[in-house]
Amino acid sequence: GVVRYYDFTVSRGIIAPDGYQRDVLLVNGAYPGPLIEANWGDTIVVTVHNNISNPEDGTTIHWHGFLQRETPWADGAPGISQCPIPPGSSYTYEFVASLFGTSWYHAHYSAQYAGGVVGPIVVYGPTHAKYDVDLGPIMLSDWYHREYFDIVKELLSPNASPRVLSDNNLIDGKMNFDCSTVAPGDNTPCTDRAGISKFKFQTGKTHRLRLINSGADGVQRFSIDQHTLTVIAEDFVPVKPYNTTVVTLGVGQRTDVLVTANAGPPDSLFWMRSNLTTCSPARQPNALAAVYYDKADTSATPSSRPWDVPDPGTCANDPLDISEPLYPIPLPKPAITQTMDIELFKNASNVTLWKFNGVSMRTDYNSPVILLANQGNFSYPPEWNVVNYQQTTAIRIIINNKGPGPHPMHLHGHNFYILHEGPGEWDGTIVRPSNPMRRDVELVRGNGHLVIQFDGAPGVWAFHCHIAWHSSGGFLASLLVQPHKVQQMHLPGDVEQNCRAWDLWTKHNV
Ligand code: C2O
Repeated sequence: GVVRYYDFTVSRGIIAPDGYQRDVLLVNGAYPGPLIEANWGDTIVVTVHNNISNPEDGTTIHWHGFLQRETPWADGAPGISQCPIPPGSSYTYEFVASLFGTSWYHAHYSAQYAGGVVGPIVVYGPTHAKYDVDLGPIMLSDWYHREYFDIVKELLSPNASPRVLSDNNLIDGKMNFDCSTVAPGDNTPCTDRAGISKFKFQTGKTHRLRLINSGADGVQRFSIDQHTLTVIAEDFVPVKPYNTTVVTLGVGQRTDVLVTANAGPPDSLFWMRSNLTTCSPARQPNALAAVYYDKADTSATPSSRPWDVPDPGTCANDPLDISEPLYPIPLPKPAITQTMDIELFKNASNVTLWKFNGVSMRTDYNSPVILLANQGNFSYPPEWNVVNYQQTTAIRIIINNKGPGPHPMHLHGHNFYILHEGPGEWDGTIVRPSNPMRRDVELVRGNGHLVIQFDGAPGVWAFHCHIAWHSSGGFLASLLVQPHKVQQMHLPGDVEQNCRAWDLWTKHNV
């Protein structure tokens, strides 16, 4: 493969993607950030410069869904695989694009990615389904008019509600907003005419759309009026094609769909929609974009009607029996089976937090687990929520969701097998053990269960709810796999050097 170099600068900015002006964090001045493109097997090298100042903040970037085999220190999880990059510093990530398909990168420091540090990644590889046009990534994202830091601060204050209302919903960073709904006394500049994203379809041709839920919280239901969607990949896993009218994506999930422009004559135009589900707290849940066939007037507004597919209200992914990986892998026998409960609780100071596997995680950004493990230190404070699997590699986890809301569960560094998902407790059955569905994020519904298994690779892997407000409220565990191998790894010197820089910076700034 080839080496693909990128240079990212994270800095503050002011943008108004939906017409309401707000302070954000940007990658190279853009929201969403620049596209990373590579071919399967290439090496991706990204130097990240932290230019955040005023008030200053650390950052890290996570390359969502990448396996990071032999490079677990390039995974971008602060306190787990590295120290944060202090303001004024740079850090270089280098990893292999060992999977192909659609993904994204995002800040992994606090809930910072909800502040704007997100961007798409496409890794080109073999394709099993024929199409004519690659329309590229389409980012779907709930949107907040407040700064991520203010939201986190409020969430972590005594007696706060754990529900965070989003203000709008964007397709590729755009949507209109009704400025008359702004709270009285809020004098933030606002325009009703921000505009929506527009897509061109070639009449009669088949288009590939790479959908990414890059939001902070909301489950999206994506559709295009009068067009059938053929699902060909979920996360980094190619699947046997299946047809649907609506695709459900939890935060972090990607779905590649094929759409043929055959719903009308060459001057047709249609709405593309992405709606936040009823289980996602939102002021304005419905995002729109316009689809124009070749000869359509691109200044016209579509008048198409949505599919009549009611929101089922359960907030789960498509049933596991219809999503089947194209390349089969039979489920191995587990060497360990573990149960992890998801619970909401109030701590001694009446702050509402999350417990995962019995612990509400608190990070120590100054000493990443991988660095300690590499130095032969395997005992960590309980609040770090590190699970050490020793030599065990075939790991099965039964997740019990004790609350009413859904959670997009994400494991770093792996495509996990999904054995079962559903309401209540697991009955012990496995969906298609000869070839279970695999992906890197799966929704566990409210008061339901999710059973996953993974072939553990050496490293320290974050396992968390991808809702930004939940992981920053303690909903995260670190899975330490084959610690003896982590100890033998040759960590690049910049891991330690960056920690020294972070340490120095915190001493002067806290
Ligand atoms: Cu895309 Cu730890 O997350």
